[in-house]
Amino acid sequence: MTLTLRFGILTISDRSSRGERPDLSGPALQNAIVTQGWQNNKTAIVPDDIETIKNIMIEWADSREIDILLSTGGTGFAPRDVTPEATLLVVDRLTPGFDEAMRASSMKITPHAMLSRAVSGIRKQTIIINLPGSPKAAMENIQVVFPVLEHAAKLLRNDPDSEMGH
Ligand code: MTE
Repeated sequence: MTLTLRFGILTISDRSSRGERPDLSGPALQNAIVTQGWQNNKTAIVPDDIETIKNIMIEWADSREIDILLSTGGTGFAPRDVTPEATLLVVDRLTPGFDEAMRASSMKITPHAMLSRAVSGIRKQTIIINLPGSPKAAMENIQVVFPVLEHAAKLLRNDPDSEMGH
């Protein structure tokens, strides 16, 4: 049975949060999600500030209104790139398979894939997945995990239907 996944898309960028650069990755991700037949329930643009990122991730996950939280940006090596550190502060369990798959796939496109420090994990009933900041990189990464997200969400809900996917 298909599941209508509920998403939150969090764009993490100092410049976009100040209105100095348009957010292209958030809308690109939103479009991809809707095309899959899923819902985008929350969007926000926040600066590269660890406390701000942490607080919104906690608020969204604990609202139980989203199944998947996608963050875009702040995964690189620049001093202000702290998205993975904020994520590690909020998740209960890690989901390294997503990170491994996205980086392995991205490495076939560009060696710069090594420069993403993106992590992912589970907080309560929400899966949090970091994506790089550029629209191209965000899309190349999210496409890799799309095929398993419904099954992942069913397993997380302890849905008996999830057994059928094994
Ligand atoms: N992954 C894919 N698939 N395609 C890309 O173009 N760019 C890389 C990497 N991952 C890229 C990618 C680059 S150049 C950087 S610096 C890191 O993601 C981190 O990006 P971020 O700092 O915008 O989060």
